[in-house]
Amino acid sequence: LLAGCGKSDDVLVVGTNATFPPFEYVGGVSGDEIKGFDIDLAKQIAKDAGKTLKVENMNFDSLIVALNAGKIDFIASGMTITPERQASVDFSAPYYEATQLVLVNKDNTSINSTDDLKDKHIAVQLGSTGDIMAKTYSQNVTAFNTGFEAVMELKNNKVDLVLFDSEPAISFLNKNPQLKMVKLDFDAEFYGLAVPKGKTELLNSINTTLKSMKSNGEYDALVTKYMK
Ligand code: ARG
Repeated sequence: LLAGCGKSDDVLVVGTNATFPPFEYVGGVSGDEIKGFDIDLAKQIAKDAGKTLKVENMNFDSLIVALNAGKIDFIASGMTITPERQASVDFSAPYYEATQLVLVNKDNTSINSTDDLKDKHIAVQLGSTGDIMAKTYSQNVTAFNTGFEAVMELKNNKVDLVLFDSEPAISFLNKNPQLKMVKLDFDAEFYGLAVPKGKTELLNSINTTLKSMKSNGEYDALVTKYMK
């Protein structure tokens, strides 16, 4: 191990943005443990590769940069597979299907179709697919480092709506009874784990783990554990 290098051969470093329940969030008894669906997937990937998992928590829009700078080995962060991202990273097989959801305050009845998003003030997470999509509907988009902050802005009536991935949106909704969700006609998105381009060996072992977890019931057990 090189001094100052910080990475050794028996450690696999996963990058995430732990503000995205139930995929990755900070919690546990100590209150500073990073947990979630993606973290359990990442643990199994490391285990199958005979390595110890180390989790690096960072801003969502820093993940691809960190990956390509060699600071992390792979990304597990509810990241949607998009052609733009595929230009700079390689994705695993899709492991989860999601869609965008609209969150509004309960008294808001003004949003019933995607046409109603036109020129609304939309809060999103910086660099997310919600961010990119919101900008196709409105010029008035404010991006925050976390979905929590976007939701806070909505609760304070500073924005009309939040556009966010379905599962975390539902999880925010469960904690904020003054909000409701509106399901609009958005395309399906597929989450993938990302590795640097050309890291075929790691990508193959990730895909092998995903495949065996799907066939041996561990994947379904995770869905039950985190999505109920
Ligand atoms: N699925 C969306 C995307 O890829 C949002 C992911 C946000 N993930 C997170 N851990 N904050 O852009």
